[in-house]
Amino acid sequence: MEPLPPARRKRSKPLPSVDIREMELRDVSAVFDLGQKLFTAEEWPTLYRSWDDHELAQLFSTEAETCLVAEAEGRVIGFALGRVMQKPRSAWRYGWLLWLGVDRRFKRNGIATRLVKQLTGLFIERDARIMLVDTAAKNHSAINFFRRNGFGQEIRHVYLSQNLENDPRYIERNDDPTNDDTED
Ligand SMILES: CC(C)(COP(=O)(O)OP(=O)(O)OC[C@H]1O[C@@H](n2cnc3c(N)ncnc32)[C@H](O)[C@@H]1OP(=O)(O)O)[C@@H](O)C(=O)NCCC(=O)NCCS
Repeated sequence: MEPLPPARRKRSKPLPSVDIREMELRDVSAVFDLGQKLFTAEEWPTLYRSWDDHELAQLFSTEAETCLVAEAEGRVIGFALGRVMQKPRSAWRYGWLLWLGVDRRFKRNGIATRLVKQLTGLFIERDARIMLVDTAAKNHSAINFFRRNGFGQEIRHVYLSQNLENDPRYIERNDDPTNDDTED
């Protein structure tokens, strides 16, 4: 027998009207707060990108044209932040969707789909030929979402790490009282 499709959560209230628009300076703090709730350190162990105010400020200051928010009743309830990039020695331009998030209370109402569709249009207007996304292998909801929205050709990437605390140089450095790098 075919497995049943996952049940959609019933909302107690009808969905308010949701507007997708370019992100503005006044949205930065709301986007940051929402991202803090969605991208927690435990769920997002990758080091090369982390959700912090510096990353967001930098992205917004250089790529505002490809940063979108979803707004309902005057509040930011979602965002899609991306940038167009060109790889060295490649004539192709890529649209990279860096951060996508929707307030948990509004999930599975097609808001991320609308954000991604609009961002895709912005990438195409900026001559991107390929759109890229990445996420943790265990982020099944995002992977489902991306597959459903036309992404494929999945490449697995492996992160390795090494604890340096047992390295004699680490021990020496941390035993040296003159090496106090801690901030006041
Ligand atoms: C992934 C995310 C952006 C999806 O937002 P959304 O607004 O709920 O997505 P949409 O309503 O447009 O699309 C829903 C579809 O995505 C997939 N999906 C979303 N959440 C899912 C879940 N928990 N389990 C399985 N599939 C899921 C399904 O295909 C779903 O379709 P369905 O509801 O008909 O089954 C949202 O869950 C989120 O903010 N996650 C945390 C941040 C994150 O992981 N970002 C992506 C990497 S940067």
